Amino acid sequence: MSQATARAHSNIALIKYWGKRAGPRNLPAVGSISVTLDGLYTDTTVVFDEALAADTAELDKKPVDTARLTPFLDLVRARAGIDTRAAIVSANNFPTGAGLASSASGFAALSLAATRAAGLALSPRELSILARQGSGSAARSVFGGFAEMHRGELDDGSDAFAESMLDPGEWPLEIVVAITDRATKSVNSSIGMSHLDQRSDYYSAWVAHSETDLSAMRDAIAARDFETVGALTEMSCLKLHGLMMSTRPGLIYWNPATVAAMQAVRALREAGTPVYFTIDAGPQVKALCAPGHGEAVARALARVPGVLETRRTALGPAASVLA
Ligand code: DP6
Repeated sequence: MSQATARAHSNIALIKYWGKRAGPRNLPAVGSISVTLDGLYTDTTVVFDEALAADTAELDKKPVDTARLTPFLDLVRARAGIDTRAAIVSANNFPTGAGLASSASGFAALSLAATRAAGLALSPRELSILARQGSGSAARSVFGGFAEMHRGELDDGSDAFAESMLDPGEWPLEIVVAITDRATKSVNSSIGMSHLDQRSDYYSAWVAHSETDLSAMRDAIAARDFETVGALTEMSCLKLHGLMMSTRPGLIYWNPATVAAMQAVRALREAGTPVYFTIDAGPQVKALCAPGHGEAVARALARVPGVLETRRTALGPAASVLA
């Protein structure tokens, strides 16, 4: 029996990933840039146990289906040259499946815990490639601070990995998450983005412009230009949701409180607070705040009708082994 426990933090994309290129296991059609969040994380323990006849998994003390997990563990087992089944015990410190990127922190933590438990010591890049095969956005949660995921060109995915851009302390932005619904989202990302080339007329434009958006964001981050980073973040978010809405059948992840929170962010900005919003495949609004402005933004968003809860967080560290 061998075991390891790892923690990985959730991340939020400023330039979004949506759509996969042909090939296996989450080869992204576009690159993406994200920030890792200190306050939202997953802790995962993996125990390889000869006494187990099949893999087992639990999340937040409830059993979960291993259909997506066993093929992922098979990648680790193949690499380590073992055949032992595993017990996975995982816990999120935030609501699961509601657009707070639980698959990102989840597969990053699982990648690190499973490889360590199997006796492997992967480099961050190798870990990122492995995590991507669980969930595309998980590749970025291997890193702290700002990270960029490369689309890659190769069919085997060996160039589709994330890399660190800035450590969290190098530009201590704050994020406020406004939770507008605690229920599990209806259409998960993998299903929402499948066969987009046939399902959305906007998809080719999304892919064609992605390099321009990424390059503008890289420059703005390097210059610590918060207004440009924020404007590009809102643009990428709204473009993503336009693409989602244009998908047959149209995907609408927002509820009335989502829209109210977006408008509240813009009203705060007009009144002088440096804050911009972004939204993933769910109804929660994430406000990107310049250093020192998180508290005021959290207070304002908590007053928006329909906002159930706010969470304020700094940028977080890379995934790490806890035990
Ligand atoms: C909207 O990484 O969850 O959050 O690769 O199919 O697991 P799979 O998708 P996932 O998609 C994330 C989409 C997004 C944008 C982003 O995080 O870049």
